Amino acid sequence: MSGLVVAMDGPSGSGKSSASRGVARALGLRYLDTGAMYRAVTWWMLQQKVDLADPQEIAARSGEPSLIMSTDPDAPGVSVDGVDVNGPIRGPEVTGAVSAVSAVPEVRRRLVTLQQEIIAESLPAGGIVVEGRDIGTVVAPDAPVKVYLTASADARAQRRTAELTGTTVETQKAEMARRDTLDSTRKADPLAAAADAIELDTTPLTLDDVIAEVLRFVKERA
Ligand code: C5P
Repeated sequence: MSGLVVAMDGPSGSGKSSASRGVARALGLRYLDTGAMYRAVTWWMLQQKVDLADPQEIAARSGEPSLIMSTDPDAPGVSVDGVDVNGPIRGPEVTGAVSAVSAVPEVRRRLVTLQQEIIAESLPAGGIVVEGRDIGTVVAPDAPVKVYLTASADARAQRRTAELTGTTVETQKAEMARRDTLDSTRKADPLAAAADAIELDTTPLTLDDVIAEVLRFVKERA
């Protein structure tokens, strides 16, 4: 076998990250968080005081930051120009700005190419679980296993609030709705389920249930 690719897409708070890492661990595969890549580029743009209201300026600078990804599911991470940015990329400033940066086609082209290189390098080692918004549709359209995770707006906001401090479910619900609208209505590679993806509503499920379901899909499809 030449290596397995599992594509995990869905909106924020749908449980993608925990489930993707769990599936990668269970199968001994690598793990790639593509959202962390868009967040890391956004962090760099903010550091550089790039005007994020100007897509042309974002596009012009998009080739400058150098990203290194860790694909170990037990220690995933990203560094930009040698700086570990795993803490700051989860903060409200980056979260509030990332959808504007990720909507710029030049940013996407560069990161999709990098993601496809990381996937290709992982195949001889067994394969990789890749999570994002456009993995099954754009990054790895030939992946044999594509999962699209959803959850109710309340469940998603509650999960995200439990991970953060100093926020409320209502604030998170509004922030997620804003980001979902931007991510799913942008022209370049919008958030969407691939036609051949298996949709899984995680609202009533525990993390272990979700992982078990995805492993069942892998057995059926891979
Ligand atoms: O998954 P996460 O919430 O960390 O993703 C942050 C943002 O990165 C998303 O809201 C979206 O704008 C962008 N993203 C994307 N394509 C991906 C992964 C993330 O546009 N494959």
